[in-house]
Amino acid sequence: MKKFLFASGLILIVIVSSIIGNYYWKYSKLPSEMKNPSTTEKELGKQMHHVTVKKEKLISIYYPKFFHDHIDSCIHAVVDELIHDFEDEKGKLYVDYSSYDLKEGYCSVLLTIEKNGIITHRAWVFDLEEDTVITMHDIFSSDVLSKLEALIEYEKKEEKQVFSSLDEIENYYLYRNELILFLESEEENRITISLALLEPWIQSSFTHLLINDIDVRIIDPTKPMIALTYDDGPHPQVTERILNVLKENNSVATFFVLGSRIANHRSLIERMIAEGSEIGNHTFGHQDMRKLDKKQLNEQVSAWQDALKEVDATYQMKLIRPTYGATNDFVVKNTSYPLILWSIDTMDWSRKNCDAVVETVLSQVKDGSIILMHDMYDSTAEATEILVPELIKRGYQFVTVSELFEAKGIELEAGHVYHEAN
Ligand code: NI
Repeated sequence: MKKFLFASGLILIVIVSSIIGNYYWKYSKLPSEMKNPSTTEKELGKQMHHVTVKKEKLISIYYPKFFHDHIDSCIHAVVDELIHDFEDEKGKLYVDYSSYDLKEGYCSVLLTIEKNGIITHRAWVFDLEEDTVITMHDIFSSDVLSKLEALIEYEKKEEKQVFSSLDEIENYYLYRNELILFLESEEENRITISLALLEPWIQSSFTHLLINDIDVRIIDPTKPMIALTYDDGPHPQVTERILNVLKENNSVATFFVLGSRIANHRSLIERMIAEGSEIGNHTFGHQDMRKLDKKQLNEQVSAWQDALKEVDATYQMKLIRPTYGATNDFVVKNTSYPLILWSIDTMDWSRKNCDAVVETVLSQVKDGSIILMHDMYDSTAEATEILVPELIKRGYQFVTVSELFEAKGIELEAGHVYHEAN
């Protein structure tokens, strides 16, 4: 009996060690790029590894196991299919994965599949507690489709993708407040959409996936947008009122400040930057740029920059607004920044009348408008307090000038004059 136990124990050891030995022998034959999983985020699941080493074929597949029957069989089915499809092929098949904890028992899994240099993806969202796959239908109400189509059209900048139902979107996952979907499995068809833009369509049981921080401002490229601009400031009371109403409405503006006023209004400048507004150059001392020579023009720009550097050494000024909106060939040729004018002139500086400013903006505003005001007059602050909530109600979002052009896919060029973005 003892002998039998000893013999069978020995056989078992031989079998186990040959299995382990066989794995390490195959593992050692892998090139280094197929050995170590490159993706570092593996928050959930036990890492599994399948290796095949043949004369003209190397397969290395890392995948997660959750010890939940249905979820594991979903992943395993894909792994098996990949191995099967590669049966008659030569070369390298390498798969790595990421897994993300979405809290409350939900989890995203992303397989990155590299087959002879061509990368594709397979993704899921799982409910670990229920051992089920979460579909787009579970997360969103079905009328999210037209919003998704508009956002995808913007991202792809080509023909409109039309879905007949949400069920068509199967290859997707969620990660840090973003929805990532693969239209086909190729890398270039990866679309990333902020969940905040889809908030109205998220089912109540999934709203915990959203960012709770309401201060985060996300630009919706499919919604109309406008840039408020204020010249000649900052002004201690007026600028503060404008910043207050912007903040209350989670909005921003662009301030073309005078260099000569920066040092005395340091805290307002700091606040503009901290709250996401943009600061542009309106010369140091409000000189008419047409009347300067090249040296003086450069001095006006650099003196402004030196003044700003004293407040924030890292801020990158990107825009110039010429004083009086006045440019000529000389100014255009000798300026190394884009020149930003406007499409709506409120004439606030001459009228000093809140109602007139409000009326001018509301009657002319459209997607891509740049609105000229001056943060020097109480009537301008008052008009801003009316306009910001009213325009939001009308479906507009406020962005900085740089954000406006970026969202519209327009690259701003030095020495070019811009009036609006569309
Ligand atoms: Ni001015």
